[in-house]
Amino acid sequence: MTQPIDYIKTHKDRFLAELFELLKLPSVSADSAFKNDVIATAELVAKQLEKAGCEHVTIYPTAGNPIVYGEKIINPELPTVLVYGHYDVQPADPIDLWDSAPFDPIIKKTDLHPDGAIFARGACDDKGQMYMHVKALEFMTQTDQLPCNVKYMIEGEEEVGSKNLGIFVAENKALLTNDIILISDTGMIANDVPSITTGLRGLSYMEVAVTGPNRDLHSGLYGGAVANPINILTKMIASLQDDNNRITIPGFYDDVLELSAAEREAMAQAPFSLEAYCQALDIAEVYGEKGYSTNERNSIRPTLDVNGIWGGYTGEGSKTVIPSQAFAKISMRLVPNQDWEKISALFERHFKAIAPKGVRVAVTTHHGGQSYVTPIDHPGYRAAAAAYQDTFGVAPIPQRGGGSIPIVALFESELGSKTILMGFGLDSDAIHSPNEHFGVWNYLKGIETIPRFFHHFTEISKQ
Ligand code: BES
Ligand code: MN
Ligand code: MN
Repeated sequence: MTQPIDYIKTHKDRFLAELFELLKLPSVSADSAFKNDVIATAELVAKQLEKAGCEHVTIYPTAGNPIVYGEKIINPELPTVLVYGHYDVQPADPIDLWDSAPFDPIIKKTDLHPDGAIFARGACDDKGQMYMHVKALEFMTQTDQLPCNVKYMIEGEEEVGSKNLGIFVAENKALLTNDIILISDTGMIANDVPSITTGLRGLSYMEVAVTGPNRDLHSGLYGGAVANPINILTKMIASLQDDNNRITIPGFYDDVLELSAAEREAMAQAPFSLEAYCQALDIAEVYGEKGYSTNERNSIRPTLDVNGIWGGYTGEGSKTVIPSQAFAKISMRLVPNQDWEKISALFERHFKAIAPKGVRVAVTTHHGGQSYVTPIDHPGYRAAAAAYQDTFGVAPIPQRGGGSIPIVALFESELGSKTILMGFGLDSDAIHSPNEHFGVWNYLKGIETIPRFFHHFTEISKQ
Protein backbone atom coordinates (compact mmCIF):
# COMPACT_ATOMS: atom_id res chain seq x y z
CA MET A 1 0.00 0.00 0.00
CA THR A 2 1.41 3.42 -1.00
CA GLN A 3 2.20 5.47 2.07
CA PRO A 4 1.37 9.20 2.05
CA ILE A 5 5.05 9.99 2.51
CA ASP A 6 6.06 8.09 -0.66
CA TYR A 7 3.26 9.60 -2.71
CA ILE A 8 4.25 13.07 -1.49
CA LYS A 9 7.89 12.52 -2.42
CA THR A 10 6.90 11.58 -5.97
CA HIS A 11 4.48 14.49 -6.47
CA LYS A 12 6.04 17.19 -4.31
CA ASP A 13 7.05 19.52 -7.14
CA ARG A 14 3.60 19.42 -8.69
CA PHE A 15 1.95 19.96 -5.27
CA LEU A 16 4.01 23.13 -4.92
CA ALA A 17 3.42 24.29 -8.50
CA GLU A 18 -0.34 23.91 -8.11
CA LEU A 19 -0.33 25.87 -4.87
CA PHE A 20 1.71 28.61 -6.57
CA GLU A 21 -0.96 28.88 -9.25
CA LEU A 22 -3.58 29.42 -6.55
CA LEU A 23 -1.43 31.96 -4.70
CA LYS A 24 -0.96 34.03 -7.83
CA LEU A 25 -4.65 34.96 -7.83
CA PRO A 26 -5.23 38.00 -5.58
CA SER A 27 -8.52 36.87 -4.00
CA VAL A 28 -8.81 39.76 -1.55
CA SER A 29 -12.35 39.66 -0.15
CA ALA A 30 -12.22 43.05 1.61
CA ASP A 31 -11.76 45.00 -1.63
CA SER A 32 -14.35 44.81 -4.42
CA ALA A 33 -11.65 45.71 -6.96
CA PHE A 34 -10.57 42.05 -6.76
CA LYS A 35 -14.02 40.60 -7.51
CA ASN A 36 -12.90 38.93 -10.78
CA ASP A 37 -9.85 37.39 -9.12
CA VAL A 38 -12.08 36.07 -6.35
CA ILE A 39 -14.29 34.36 -8.92
CA ALA A 40 -11.29 32.99 -10.82
CA THR A 41 -9.98 31.56 -7.53
CA ALA A 42 -13.28 29.83 -6.78
CA GLU A 43 -13.17 28.31 -10.28
CA LEU A 44 -9.63 27.06 -9.80
CA VAL A 45 -10.49 25.51 -6.43
CA ALA A 46 -13.50 23.80 -8.02
CA LYS A 47 -11.38 22.47 -10.89
CA GLN A 48 -8.75 21.10 -8.53
CA LEU A 49 -11.31 19.48 -6.23
CA GLU A 50 -12.77 17.71 -9.23
CA LYS A 51 -9.34 16.57 -10.42
CA ALA A 52 -8.55 15.27 -6.94
CA GLY A 53 -11.59 13.00 -7.04
CA CYS A 54 -14.58 15.03 -5.87
CA GLU A 55 -18.03 14.57 -7.35
CA HIS A 56 -20.92 17.02 -7.65
CA VAL A 57 -18.49 19.91 -7.57
CA THR A 58 -20.59 23.07 -7.56
CA ILE A 59 -19.86 26.76 -7.29
CA TYR A 60 -22.73 28.22 -5.29
CA PRO A 61 -23.22 31.92 -5.87
CA THR A 62 -24.11 34.03 -2.82
CA ALA A 63 -24.92 37.69 -2.27
CA GLY A 64 -21.15 38.02 -1.91
CA ASN A 65 -18.39 35.65 -2.98
CA PRO A 66 -19.14 32.11 -4.20
CA ILE A 67 -18.87 28.97 -2.10
CA VAL A 68 -17.17 25.93 -3.64
CA TYR A 69 -18.66 22.58 -2.69
CA GLY A 70 -17.72 19.03 -3.63
CA GLU A 71 -18.08 15.56 -2.15
CA LYS A 72 -17.02 11.95 -2.44
CA ILE A 73 -19.58 9.65 -0.88
CA ILE A 74 -18.33 6.07 -0.96
CA ASN A 75 -20.84 4.45 1.38
CA PRO A 76 -23.66 6.12 3.33
CA GLU A 77 -23.03 3.72 6.22
CA LEU A 78 -19.57 5.15 6.79
CA PRO A 79 -18.82 8.37 8.67
CA THR A 80 -18.65 11.68 6.79
CA VAL A 81 -15.97 14.31 7.29
CA LEU A 82 -16.80 17.88 6.24
CA VAL A 83 -13.69 19.85 5.35
CA TYR A 84 -13.97 23.63 5.53
CA GLY A 85 -11.45 26.20 4.36
CA HIS A 86 -11.30 29.62 2.75
CA TYR A 87 -9.83 30.76 -0.55
CA ASP A 88 -10.10 34.48 0.19
CA VAL A 89 -7.15 36.38 1.64
CA GLN A 90 -6.46 39.56 3.58
CA PRO A 91 -5.38 42.66 1.66
CA ALA A 92 -1.63 42.68 0.99
CA ASP A 93 -1.16 46.19 2.43
CA PRO A 94 1.22 47.66 3.34
CA ILE A 95 2.76 46.43 0.08
CA ASP A 96 6.00 48.40 0.52
CA LEU A 97 6.94 46.22 3.46
CA TRP A 98 6.97 43.00 1.43
CA ASP A 99 10.41 41.73 0.39
CA SER A 100 8.83 40.04 -2.64
CA ALA A 101 5.55 40.62 -4.47
CA PRO A 102 2.61 39.30 -2.39
CA PHE A 103 0.97 37.52 -5.33
CA ASP A 104 4.13 36.18 -6.88
CA PRO A 105 5.04 33.27 -4.59
CA ILE A 106 8.66 32.35 -4.02
CA ILE A 107 10.43 29.87 -1.76
CA LYS A 108 13.04 31.19 0.65
CA LYS A 109 14.75 29.60 3.63
CA THR A 110 14.20 31.02 7.12
CA ASP A 111 15.55 30.09 10.56
CA LEU A 112 12.36 28.26 11.44
CA HIS A 113 11.90 26.84 7.94
CA PRO A 114 15.29 25.45 6.91
CA ASP A 115 13.62 23.47 4.07
CA GLY A 116 12.20 26.72 2.71
CA ALA A 117 8.94 28.57 3.09
CA ILE A 118 6.48 29.79 0.46
CA PHE A 119 6.18 33.58 0.66
CA ALA A 120 2.85 34.96 -0.59
CA ARG A 121 -0.37 36.44 0.74
CA GLY A 122 -2.55 33.46 1.67
CA ALA A 123 0.35 30.98 1.73
CA CYS A 124 -0.59 29.97 5.28
CA ASP A 125 -3.98 31.71 5.73
CA ASP A 126 -5.57 29.84 4.21
CA LYS A 127 -4.80 28.77 0.64
CA GLY A 128 -1.78 26.65 1.57
CA GLN A 129 -3.56 24.96 4.43
CA MET A 130 -6.81 24.52 2.51
CA TYR A 131 -4.93 23.03 -0.45
CA MET A 132 -3.30 20.39 1.78
CA HIS A 133 -6.79 18.89 2.00
CA VAL A 134 -7.19 18.83 -1.77
CA LYS A 135 -3.87 17.02 -2.14
CA ALA A 136 -4.65 14.67 0.75
CA LEU A 137 -7.85 13.75 -1.12
CA GLU A 138 -5.87 13.17 -4.29
CA PHE A 139 -3.62 10.79 -2.39
CA MET A 140 -6.54 8.91 -0.88
CA THR A 141 -8.48 8.54 -4.12
CA GLN A 142 -5.45 7.78 -6.32
CA THR A 143 -4.19 5.06 -3.97
CA ASP A 144 -7.63 3.70 -3.07
CA GLN A 145 -7.30 4.65 0.56
CA LEU A 146 -10.29 6.89 1.17
CA PRO A 147 -11.83 5.15 4.21
CA CYS A 148 -15.02 7.22 4.60
CA ASN A 149 -17.16 9.89 2.98
CA VAL A 150 -15.92 13.41 2.57
CA LYS A 151 -17.45 16.78 1.73
CA TYR A 152 -15.60 20.00 0.97
CA MET A 153 -16.91 23.50 1.51
CA ILE A 154 -14.43 26.23 0.62
CA GLU A 155 -15.64 29.80 1.00
CA GLY A 156 -14.51 33.23 -0.14
CA GLU A 157 -15.55 35.53 2.69
CA GLU A 158 -13.87 34.24 5.84
CA GLU A 159 -11.69 37.30 6.17
CA VAL A 160 -14.73 39.56 6.10
CA GLY A 161 -16.96 37.69 8.53
CA SER A 162 -18.52 34.75 6.59
CA LYS A 163 -21.96 36.35 6.57
CA ASN A 164 -23.12 34.65 3.37
CA LEU A 165 -21.69 31.31 4.41
CA GLY A 166 -23.82 31.52 7.57
CA ILE A 167 -26.92 31.89 5.38
CA PHE A 168 -25.76 29.05 3.08
CA VAL A 169 -25.22 26.70 6.03
CA ALA A 170 -28.63 27.46 7.51
CA GLU A 171 -30.28 26.82 4.13
CA ASN A 172 -28.35 23.66 3.21
CA LYS A 173 -28.33 21.57 6.35
CA ALA A 174 -29.18 18.34 4.51
CA LEU A 175 -26.36 18.81 2.00
CA LEU A 176 -23.88 19.44 4.80
CA THR A 177 -24.75 16.62 7.23
CA ASN A 178 -21.55 15.19 8.66
CA ASP A 179 -20.00 13.42 11.63
CA ILE A 180 -17.09 15.78 12.12
CA ILE A 181 -15.80 19.02 10.63
CA LEU A 182 -12.11 19.31 9.83
CA ILE A 183 -10.35 22.63 9.35
CA SER A 184 -6.73 23.60 8.78
CA ASP A 185 -6.72 27.34 9.40
CA THR A 186 -4.83 27.68 12.68
CA GLY A 187 -1.29 27.10 13.87
CA MET A 188 0.83 24.87 16.05
CA ILE A 189 3.55 25.58 18.61
CA ALA A 190 6.59 24.47 16.57
CA ASN A 191 7.52 21.88 13.97
CA ASP A 192 8.90 19.62 16.70
CA VAL A 193 6.14 20.55 19.18
CA PRO A 194 2.89 19.82 17.34
CA SER A 195 -0.30 21.10 18.92
CA ILE A 196 -3.98 21.05 18.08
CA THR A 197 -6.13 24.13 18.58
CA THR A 198 -8.97 23.27 20.96
CA GLY A 199 -10.58 26.66 21.13
CA LEU A 200 -11.18 29.86 19.18
CA ARG A 201 -12.09 33.24 20.55
CA GLY A 202 -15.27 35.05 19.60
CA LEU A 203 -15.18 38.48 18.06
CA SER A 204 -17.13 41.69 18.16
CA TYR A 205 -16.00 44.27 15.60
CA MET A 206 -17.16 47.87 16.04
CA GLU A 207 -16.65 51.19 14.34
CA VAL A 208 -17.10 54.53 16.07
CA ALA A 209 -17.43 58.06 14.74
CA VAL A 210 -17.08 61.13 16.95
CA THR A 211 -18.47 64.35 15.51
CA GLY A 212 -17.78 67.77 16.97
CA PRO A 213 -18.31 71.09 15.18
CA ASN A 214 -20.14 71.02 11.83
CA ARG A 215 -16.93 71.78 9.86
CA ASP A 216 -13.17 71.68 10.24
CA LEU A 217 -12.04 74.72 12.21
CA HIS A 218 -8.94 76.91 12.45
CA SER A 219 -7.21 75.56 15.55
CA GLY A 220 -6.09 79.05 16.56
CA LEU A 221 -9.47 80.70 16.31
CA TYR A 222 -11.35 77.85 17.96
CA GLY A 223 -8.67 75.77 19.71
CA GLY A 224 -9.36 75.39 23.42
CA ALA A 225 -12.97 76.48 23.12
CA VAL A 226 -14.65 73.50 21.43
CA ALA A 227 -14.23 69.75 21.84
CA ASN A 228 -11.67 68.37 19.37
CA PRO A 229 -13.12 65.01 18.20
CA ILE A 230 -9.67 63.40 17.98
CA ASN A 231 -8.72 64.49 21.51
CA ILE A 232 -12.07 63.25 22.78
CA LEU A 233 -11.95 59.96 20.86
CA THR A 234 -8.47 59.08 22.12
CA LYS A 235 -9.48 59.95 25.68
CA MET A 236 -12.57 57.77 25.41
CA ILE A 237 -10.57 54.88 23.97
CA ALA A 238 -7.90 55.19 26.68
CA SER A 239 -10.60 54.98 29.35
CA LEU A 240 -11.78 51.58 28.04
CA GLN A 241 -8.91 49.88 29.89
CA ASP A 242 -7.87 50.53 33.51
CA ASP A 243 -4.41 50.49 35.09
CA ASN A 244 -4.51 46.70 35.32
CA ASN A 245 -5.45 46.48 31.64
CA ARG A 246 -8.89 45.28 32.46
CA ILE A 247 -11.73 46.41 30.23
CA THR A 248 -13.95 48.99 31.91
CA ILE A 249 -17.18 48.45 29.98
CA PRO A 250 -19.80 47.65 32.65
CA GLY A 251 -20.87 44.00 32.45
CA PHE A 252 -18.05 43.05 30.04
CA TYR A 253 -16.71 40.22 32.21
CA ASP A 254 -20.06 39.08 33.63
CA ASP A 255 -20.37 35.93 31.52
CA VAL A 256 -16.67 35.06 31.15
CA LEU A 257 -16.01 31.44 31.93
CA GLU A 258 -12.97 31.32 34.24
CA LEU A 259 -10.65 28.34 33.94
CA SER A 260 -10.03 26.17 36.99
CA ALA A 261 -6.62 26.25 38.66
CA ALA A 262 -5.98 22.75 37.26
CA GLU A 263 -6.80 23.86 33.71
CA ARG A 264 -4.50 26.86 34.03
CA GLU A 265 -1.81 24.62 35.45
CA ALA A 266 -2.14 22.30 32.42
CA MET A 267 -1.92 25.25 30.04
CA ALA A 268 1.25 26.47 31.70
CA GLN A 269 2.93 23.16 30.79
CA ALA A 270 3.10 24.07 27.10
CA PRO A 271 6.64 25.04 26.15
CA PHE A 272 7.01 28.83 25.92
CA SER A 273 9.91 31.25 26.18
CA LEU A 274 8.98 34.80 27.10
CA GLU A 275 12.43 35.94 26.09
CA ALA A 276 12.19 34.44 22.61
CA TYR A 277 8.67 35.86 22.27
CA CYS A 278 9.87 39.41 23.04
CA GLN A 279 12.92 39.00 20.86
CA ALA A 280 10.91 37.83 17.85
CA LEU A 281 8.72 40.95 18.10
CA ASP A 282 11.50 43.35 19.05
CA ILE A 283 9.75 44.47 22.21
CA ALA A 284 11.31 45.07 25.63
CA GLU A 285 8.38 43.69 27.58
CA VAL A 286 4.97 42.10 27.13
CA TYR A 287 1.86 44.03 28.10
CA GLY A 288 -1.57 42.87 29.19
CA GLU A 289 -4.15 42.07 31.80
CA LYS A 290 -2.74 41.82 35.29
CA GLY A 291 -2.78 38.36 36.86
CA TYR A 292 -2.51 36.36 33.63
CA SER A 293 0.37 34.88 31.66
CA THR A 294 1.05 35.78 28.04
CA ASN A 295 -0.45 32.51 26.81
CA GLU A 296 -3.55 33.10 28.91
CA ARG A 297 -3.88 36.72 27.78
CA ASN A 298 -3.92 35.70 24.13
CA SER A 299 -6.26 32.75 24.39
CA ILE A 300 -8.54 32.39 27.41
CA ARG A 301 -8.99 36.10 28.21
CA PRO A 302 -11.13 38.63 26.36
CA THR A 303 -9.45 41.71 24.92
CA LEU A 304 -10.17 45.07 23.33
CA ASP A 305 -7.96 46.55 20.62
CA VAL A 306 -8.10 49.54 18.32
CA ASN A 307 -7.47 48.29 14.77
CA GLY A 308 -7.41 51.65 13.08
CA ILE A 309 -7.90 55.31 13.92
CA TRP A 310 -8.16 58.31 11.64
CA GLY A 311 -9.24 61.89 11.30
CA GLY A 312 -7.82 65.36 10.77
CA TYR A 313 -4.79 66.18 8.67
CA THR A 314 -2.27 63.41 8.00
CA GLY A 315 -0.71 64.66 4.76
CA GLU A 316 2.71 66.15 4.21
CA GLY A 317 3.78 69.13 6.27
CA SER A 318 1.41 70.61 8.83
CA LYS A 319 -2.05 72.05 8.91
CA THR A 320 -3.51 73.76 11.95
CA VAL A 321 -6.99 72.33 12.16
CA ILE A 322 -9.58 71.05 14.55
CA PRO A 323 -11.27 68.30 12.57
CA SER A 324 -14.98 67.99 12.55
CA GLN A 325 -14.82 64.22 12.92
CA ALA A 326 -12.66 61.36 14.19
CA PHE A 327 -13.07 57.62 13.66
CA ALA A 328 -11.82 54.30 14.98
CA LYS A 329 -12.27 50.61 14.34
CA ILE A 330 -12.28 48.66 17.57
CA SER A 331 -12.47 44.90 18.01
CA MET A 332 -12.98 42.75 21.06
CA ARG A 333 -11.88 39.10 21.27
CA LEU A 334 -14.31 37.09 23.36
CA VAL A 335 -14.11 33.87 25.30
CA PRO A 336 -16.55 31.02 26.00
CA ASN A 337 -19.92 32.05 27.36
CA GLN A 338 -19.62 35.69 26.24
CA ASP A 339 -22.23 36.51 23.61
CA TRP A 340 -20.92 38.77 20.86
CA GLU A 341 -24.20 40.56 20.27
CA LYS A 342 -24.59 41.28 23.96
CA ILE A 343 -21.00 42.57 24.13
CA SER A 344 -21.55 44.76 21.08
CA ALA A 345 -24.62 46.26 22.77
CA LEU A 346 -22.72 46.83 26.03
CA PHE A 347 -19.93 48.53 24.09
CA GLU A 348 -22.32 50.80 22.24
CA ARG A 349 -24.19 51.85 25.39
CA HIS A 350 -20.97 52.52 27.30
CA PHE A 351 -19.21 54.35 24.49
CA LYS A 352 -22.16 56.70 24.07
CA ALA A 353 -22.45 57.19 27.82
CA ILE A 354 -18.84 58.33 28.28
CA ALA A 355 -18.93 60.97 25.52
CA PRO A 356 -19.00 64.61 26.65
CA LYS A 357 -21.98 66.69 25.49
CA GLY A 358 -19.73 68.65 23.10
CA VAL A 359 -19.61 65.76 20.62
CA ARG A 360 -22.00 63.29 19.05
CA VAL A 361 -21.08 59.63 18.88
CA ALA A 362 -22.19 57.02 16.34
CA VAL A 363 -21.43 53.35 16.90
CA THR A 364 -21.88 50.63 14.31
CA THR A 365 -21.31 46.88 14.52
CA HIS A 366 -19.37 45.38 11.61
CA HIS A 367 -19.56 41.67 12.34
CA GLY A 368 -18.96 39.21 15.08
CA GLY A 369 -19.02 35.61 16.11
CA GLN A 370 -19.08 33.33 19.12
CA SER A 371 -16.14 31.51 20.63
CA TYR A 372 -15.68 27.76 20.33
CA VAL A 373 -14.17 24.87 22.32
CA THR A 374 -13.40 21.24 21.35
CA PRO A 375 -13.29 18.78 24.25
CA ILE A 376 -10.17 16.61 24.10
CA ASP A 377 -12.11 13.41 24.83
CA HIS A 378 -14.15 13.85 21.64
CA PRO A 379 -13.65 11.05 19.05
CA GLY A 380 -12.56 13.68 16.52
CA TYR A 381 -9.87 15.00 18.81
CA ARG A 382 -8.68 11.49 19.62
CA ALA A 383 -8.45 10.68 15.90
CA ALA A 384 -6.47 13.87 15.26
CA ALA A 385 -4.11 13.15 18.15
CA ALA A 386 -3.49 9.63 16.78
CA ALA A 387 -2.80 11.09 13.33
CA TYR A 388 -0.16 13.48 14.72
CA GLN A 389 1.34 10.64 16.72
CA ASP A 390 1.75 8.73 13.43
CA THR A 391 3.37 11.52 11.44
CA PHE A 392 5.21 13.65 14.03
CA GLY A 393 6.15 10.73 16.27
CA VAL A 394 4.83 12.54 19.35
CA ALA A 395 1.44 13.31 20.82
CA PRO A 396 0.16 16.82 20.07
CA ILE A 397 -0.43 19.37 22.84
CA PRO A 398 -4.01 20.65 23.05
CA GLN A 399 -3.95 24.44 23.01
CA ARG A 400 -6.65 27.11 23.05
CA GLY A 401 -6.12 29.60 20.23
CA GLY A 402 -6.54 33.34 20.28
CA GLY A 403 -7.82 33.90 16.75
CA SER A 404 -11.38 33.59 15.53
CA ILE A 405 -13.18 31.58 12.87
CA PRO A 406 -16.75 32.67 13.62
CA ILE A 407 -18.36 30.07 11.37
CA VAL A 408 -17.13 27.26 13.65
CA ALA A 409 -19.60 28.13 16.44
CA LEU A 410 -22.30 28.37 13.79
CA PHE A 411 -21.41 24.89 12.49
CA GLU A 412 -22.08 23.62 15.98
CA SER A 413 -25.40 25.43 16.46
CA GLU A 414 -26.73 24.84 12.91
CA LEU A 415 -25.30 21.43 12.02
CA GLY A 416 -24.76 20.04 15.51
CA SER A 417 -21.20 19.01 14.73
CA LYS A 418 -17.91 19.52 16.44
CA THR A 419 -14.89 20.89 14.61
CA ILE A 420 -11.31 19.67 14.76
CA LEU A 421 -8.74 22.39 14.10
CA MET A 422 -5.66 20.73 12.61
CA GLY A 423 -3.52 23.75 11.80
CA PHE A 424 0.05 23.44 10.53
CA GLY A 425 1.15 27.09 10.49
CA LEU A 426 3.44 28.79 12.97
CA ASP A 427 2.64 32.06 14.79
CA SER A 428 5.76 33.51 13.16
CA ASP A 429 4.41 32.81 9.63
CA ALA A 430 3.17 36.42 9.52
CA ILE A 431 -0.44 35.78 8.52
CA HIS A 432 -2.26 39.06 7.74
CA SER A 433 1.18 40.77 7.72
CA PRO A 434 3.73 41.57 5.03
CA ASN A 435 5.89 38.55 4.07
CA GLU A 436 3.29 35.95 5.03
CA HIS A 437 4.77 32.50 4.49
CA PHE A 438 4.14 28.79 5.03
CA GLY A 439 6.84 26.19 5.51
CA VAL A 440 7.24 23.70 2.67
CA TRP A 441 7.81 21.07 5.36
CA ASN A 442 4.55 22.14 7.06
CA TYR A 443 2.61 21.98 3.79
CA LEU A 444 3.81 18.45 3.10
CA LYS A 445 3.37 17.39 6.75
CA GLY A 446 -0.24 18.48 6.55
CA ILE A 447 -0.80 16.43 3.39
CA GLU A 448 0.75 13.47 5.18
CA THR A 449 -1.23 13.87 8.42
CA ILE A 450 -4.73 14.49 7.01
CA PRO A 451 -5.19 10.95 5.54
CA ARG A 452 -4.15 9.54 8.93
CA PHE A 453 -6.98 11.53 10.51
CA PHE A 454 -9.45 10.02 8.05
CA HIS A 455 -8.14 6.57 8.88
CA HIS A 456 -8.30 6.98 12.66
CA PHE A 457 -11.65 8.76 12.66
CA THR A 458 -13.20 5.94 10.62
CA GLU A 459 -11.70 3.33 12.95
CA ILE A 460 -12.79 5.15 16.13
CA SER A 461 -16.29 5.57 14.69
CA LYS A 462 -16.60 1.78 14.33
CA GLN A 463 -16.09 1.25 18.06
N1 BES B 1 -7.16 31.69 10.11
C1 BES B 1 -7.52 32.86 10.82
C2 BES B 1 -7.83 32.61 12.26
C3 BES B 1 -6.75 32.01 13.12
C4 BES B 1 -5.41 32.11 12.80
C5 BES B 1 -7.11 31.35 14.26
C6 BES B 1 -4.45 31.54 13.60
C7 BES B 1 -6.16 30.81 15.08
C8 BES B 1 -4.81 30.89 14.73
C9 BES B 1 -8.71 33.51 10.12
O1 BES B 1 -8.53 33.57 8.73
C10 BES B 1 -8.84 34.92 10.59
O2 BES B 1 -7.98 35.71 10.31
N2 BES B 1 -9.93 35.23 11.30
C11 BES B 1 -10.21 36.58 11.67
C12 BES B 1 -11.66 36.75 11.98
C13 BES B 1 -12.50 37.21 10.82
C14 BES B 1 -13.93 37.39 11.27
C15 BES B 1 -11.98 38.45 10.18
C16 BES B 1 -9.45 36.93 12.91
O3 BES B 1 -9.18 36.09 13.77
O4 BES B 1 -9.12 38.12 13.03
MN1 MN C 1 -7.89 31.82 7.97
MN1 MN D 1 -7.18 35.30 8.34
